Amino acid sequence: MYYPVARPRRLRSSANMRRLVRENHLRVDDLIYPIFVTGGRDVQKPVKSMPGVYNLSIDRLLAEVSLVQDLGIPGILLFGIPDNKDAVGSGAYAANGIIQQAVRAIKDKFPELLVITDVCLCEYTDHGHCGIVHEGKVLNDPTLELLARTAVSHAQSGADIVAPSDMMDGRVKAIREALDERGFANIPIMSYSVKYASAFYGPFREAAGSAPQFGDRKTYQMDPPNIREALREAEQDIAEGADMIIVKPAMAYMDVIAAVRRNFDGPLAAYNVSGEYSMIKAAASLGWIDERQTTLELLTGLKRAGANIIITYHAPDVAHWLNEDI
Ligand code: PBG
Repeated sequence: MYYPVARPRRLRSSANMRRLVRENHLRVDDLIYPIFVTGGRDVQKPVKSMPGVYNLSIDRLLAEVSLVQDLGIPGILLFGIPDNKDAVGSGAYAANGIIQQAVRAIKDKFPELLVITDVCLCEYTDHGHCGIVHEGKVLNDPTLELLARTAVSHAQSGADIVAPSDMMDGRVKAIREALDERGFANIPIMSYSVKYASAFYGPFREAAGSAPQFGDRKTYQMDPPNIREALREAEQDIAEGADMIIVKPAMAYMDVIAAVRRNFDGPLAAYNVSGEYSMIKAAASLGWIDERQTTLELLTGLKRAGANIIITYHAPDVAHWLNEDI
């Protein structure tokens, strides 16, 4: 009779045995919930391509935030949908812009919750690009000043962390200097350092009304086949003062998350984007996959890849499931 020397199955024999040897854990502490805020009162407009996600007016947002806080989720990531757009995205840095109002309202009622603001112009420009456009080109350097103004105005409204997602070169340094000069040296920057020009952002652009009106984002967001470039992007942002970095999207880029993790010790977020969310929702609604199991498996996979923060539209459901398990 032949007996295998190693029997990995010994450590899989029961739920408690598996718990004991489990290497990675998804926790409510890891989660950040993205929310879309819009003007008006009593607005809860469903985003068709993202079941369970809404555009919320500030009053409704406060109710949602209260639930998020009760679930134990440490923070939210805010996206603004302004009433008016223009060529230079003035709504992004207006003292009374939608984000500025929303942050003040949230911090007033929920001072403990971490409020992270997405710093970008695409939701605020009439052309839908993340920077100033001149003769069909997205200009880098003139955009930096506007991003810095946006970040400062978010900080002045009470944001705890600013998260630039525009992918202009040098924006972390520009934002860091502007924050420091205005007395916000203690506000961290969570940079979307490694952000690919991805088709998985489709549903987000419906949610935020931010689809580019001409062309695409390929001259500023990264080319999906590249990974060495991701390391250079991350390194550069860290050198410019990024406190945390984001890899985005998550699912199709787990190798990138793992590679960045090997080079960077600090907080690393994976952004589980709109298209990834919608795929699970769609398949689950057809009864083709189990929503709870697949979502937990996917997000735990992001932890295994090396992320320690997960930005996801599934956050409230996940928090619910994890709290239930305890
Ligand atoms: C804004 C921004 C985008 C996302 C986050 N910030 C869209 C884009 O770059 O087109 C995508 C988020 C998602 O798909 O969930 N620049």
